[in-house]
Amino acid sequence: MGKVFRKFKRPGAIVVKVLITGGTGFIGKKLANLLKDKHEVHILDKNPDPESTQTFKTFYFDMSEKHLFDSLDKDYDIVFHLAAQSGGYYSLINPQDDCDWNCKATVNLVEFCLGIKPRKVVFTSSMAVYGNASGVTEESPTNPLSYYGVSKLASENYIKLLKEHSDVTYSIYRLFATYGSDQDLSNLHQGIVSIYLSYAIKDREIPITGRMDRVRCLVHVNDVCSALEMAMNDSQTDNNTYNLLNEEVCTPKIIVNTIAKSMGENIKIIENEGYLGDQTFITGDNTKLKSTGWSPSLNLAQGISEFYSNIEGNNG
Ligand SMILES: NC(=O)c1ccc[n+]([C@@H]2O[C@H](COP(=O)([O-])OP(=O)(O)OC[C@H]3O[C@@H](n4cnc5c(N)ncnc54)[C@H](O)[C@@H]3O)[C@@H](O)[C@H]2O)c1
Repeated sequence: MGKVFRKFKRPGAIVVKVLITGGTGFIGKKLANLLKDKHEVHILDKNPDPESTQTFKTFYFDMSEKHLFDSLDKDYDIVFHLAAQSGGYYSLINPQDDCDWNCKATVNLVEFCLGIKPRKVVFTSSMAVYGNASGVTEESPTNPLSYYGVSKLASENYIKLLKEHSDVTYSIYRLFATYGSDQDLSNLHQGIVSIYLSYAIKDREIPITGRMDRVRCLVHVNDVCSALEMAMNDSQTDNNTYNLLNEEVCTPKIIVNTIAKSMGENIKIIENEGYLGDQTFITGDNTKLKSTGWSPSLNLAQGISEFYSNIEGNNG
């Protein structure tokens, strides 16, 4: 076991000092807000966010620049590493960015952590490490189809070196397609639910990239954050890798019908060409994560309803 938690100013309460990389991104910001009342949360991201600056101690720099890590505090208990170029499609067009922002940034983070020795590093990997496959468990073969999948797999292995080279523990979560309120609706290349919702709201018709029989397992962002939070204190997750998904198997038709129901509208589907490197089918098994006590709290219908009402609330 690494360091002992410091005592919080409030009598009896224990504060954990947490660094969240990628803390102004979709999942990182949700996680920061979930943890902020219980712990001391710092955020690192290359993309400044005024709201985060007001609420958290923030560090804004590109993690692929090693010397810039000198500005960070040195006494974190838990480091959540979420920062990444997070799109498969973007990685196919800009593989060098993907390599810098995912691989190089993760190597620099590992070196930083070997220096400061937090108790644990929690890393968000991706279903992209598997390529096209059905019912994958954590032991299934990895066969990434995009530069993104390769860089996430490489990052997993960099993170595992922490355990080899020190007593810093890790937990790795292979997130499946994550969706939920506050996801970026303007990015039409990333996030199957956010892309479909974005088109549905704008045009009442949705272009489906690639095959109509593509298959995905999804997970709501709240359920991702609850799993990441559990990793902070649950020693059974130390030095383990988990699939993080809701096992409901979703096709474009199922997702579009659920969106249509939530909106109370008819939505038309338009079929478009796919692209090389697209992950057309991926479903997984979450038994290992469920055995730690985690379970998804929202099914697809509930998750899409949460997402859509949040958009309506923001526009209304
Ligand atoms: N959203 C999903 O469906 C999904 C699925 C699988 C895995 N993941 C993983 O979860 C994590 C978070 O995903 P997200 O959806 O919040 O992505 P996001 O793109 O919304 O957020 C990522 C954040 O990382 C920051 N970042 C990227 N490179 C950086 C660098 N070199 N230095 C500093 N900051 C950097 C970006 O500015 C951004 O704010 C990522 O690691 C992603 O690979 C996400």
